[in-house]
Amino acid sequence: MNISKKMQDAFNAQITAELYSSNLYLQMAFWFRKEGWKGFADWMFKHSDEEKHHALEMANFVLDRGGEALVAAIDAPEVDFKDPKEIFERTLKHEQWVTEKINELADVADELKDRASINFVDKFIDEQVEEEKTVRDILNLFRHRDGHTVATIDDIVGAQE
Ligand SMILES: [Fe+2]
Ligand SMILES: [Fe+2]
Repeated sequence: MNISKKMQDAFNAQITAELYSSNLYLQMAFWFRKEGWKGFADWMFKHSDEEKHHALEMANFVLDRGGEALVAAIDAPEVDFKDPKEIFERTLKHEQWVTEKINELADVADELKDRASINFVDKFIDEQVEEEKTVRDILNLFRHRDGHTVATIDDIVGAQE
């Protein structure tokens, strides 16, 4: 069964959100590089790639089901960053926003009783739990410090897979 127009449009909106996320993290990576935070920059470059990969996975799913995948206009990301901690706070907020969007995508799949889409989106619901946790763990390093300087946090985060 081909994907419905409504489901396809919902996926295309999410593809746009994932590509925006990819660009936002790329912009954050550029800022970190400019400021000399190599570990944070590496983490953000990787995260940016992951978001692009999410967009591609969704596009492939739509295409595999006989639909049309679209790249819409992507808004320019924010650029007014202050410091590493503030960037990770914004990252957590952004991931929480993405989680809401994924939940809305799941709602459309439920409403349409589109089993394949329900199944596919489930994986992204799990993924969001993981992503929010990863960013929260990084923020905890800043909060508790445990004797860490921002430079050691940069090393720790840069070494993460
Ligand atoms: Fe994503
Ligand atoms: Fe994400």
